[in-house]
Amino acid sequence: MTVQADSCILVTGALGQIGTELVNALRQRHGSDSIIATDLREIDGHSVIASGKFAIADVLDKKELENLIIKHSVGTIYHLAAILSATGEKNPELCERVNLGGLANVLELAREHNLRVFSPSSIAVFGPDCPPFAPQDAPLNPTTMYGMTKVAGEVMAKYYSEIHSVDIRGLRYPGLISWKAPPGGGTTDYAVEIFHHAINSSSYNCFVRPDTKLPMMYMDDAIRATLELMDAPIDSLSSARAGYNIAGLSFTAEELSEEIAMRIPNFICNFEPDIRQKYADSWPESIDDSFAQKEWNWSPKYNLQQLVEEMLKNLS
Ligand SMILES: NC(=O)c1ccc[n+]([C@@H]2O[C@H](COP(=O)([O-])OP(=O)(O)OC[C@H]3O[C@@H](n4cnc5c(N)ncnc54)[C@H](O)[C@@H]3O)[C@@H](O)[C@H]2O)c1
Repeated sequence: MTVQADSCILVTGALGQIGTELVNALRQRHGSDSIIATDLREIDGHSVIASGKFAIADVLDKKELENLIIKHSVGTIYHLAAILSATGEKNPELCERVNLGGLANVLELAREHNLRVFSPSSIAVFGPDCPPFAPQDAPLNPTTMYGMTKVAGEVMAKYYSEIHSVDIRGLRYPGLISWKAPPGGGTTDYAVEIFHHAINSSSYNCFVRPDTKLPMMYMDDAIRATLELMDAPIDSLSSARAGYNIAGLSFTAEELSEEIAMRIPNFICNFEPDIRQKYADSWPESIDDSFAQKEWNWSPKYNLQQLVEEMLKNLS
């Protein structure tokens, strides 16, 4: 995607796990001055994105977002602000309000100001009736409030793209594993926490069973997928564009702990499932991403060994 000379990119939820890395990738591509990072929270001076443009913005405040869009001649929004699955189950009303209200504001502003939009979906759109190898057109019957907001978000995105010709694109991200910013309260957070505990205390109490197998992805692959989808010619994208399935890798919690123990021999992982086991059990084990492969040449790079080595090297 090329940014017009007079057009900037605004990122909502920029201080989160994905935003922290996406903002840096966008700054490298388009120049720091073209990227406006925003979040509800004040930025910490030590944040890896502290050096560029930043503004406080609540996605539920449409006027505040509009002022930024006009002030900075924004042409594209990467809308990352959301309440994730585990936090959302503790506070379903907030999850519904932020995830649907924030997206409604972004989509309406996109229609009014002719903006392009990236809005992520999630594997949480799937429910217990989804086959273990989830197809693009699987039934979407999630059991979490978070999953419901993501299904509704895809429907809203389709409406704005088909009826109002807004160029909106989305990915059903798997659980994302990264080291630059902590995860924000999702069910797959164990796959990040385990590395911190392995390095700091050589033991971890994992909150899902050892046989829990979920779709995951290393953050570098997720950022590349995001940029590649936004670069793809619009004519190559089908109606899956509101939420493409993308696969990275799938592994059980036990396979992950064993892979870490091969590199940290005294590491011990105990398994003490909590309520998040139920959310994990409602999701598929792996993802059929043939639409993404065919329509914009998606292909992941990181396998489990590479991911574990990268995480341990960067966190140590
Ligand atoms: N991280 C993952 O594993 C994962 C997986 C699937 C989908 N996703 C999706 O990707 C997107 C980004 O996820 P993330 O992991 O970076 O989340 P995160 O929780 O790490 O970050 C979300 C950010 O949104 C901000 N925020 C919350 N409410 C806000 C509001 N009202 N206005 C403005 N900002 C607000 C928070 O302060 C936070 O910095 C979300 O839509 C999420 O559903 C993430």
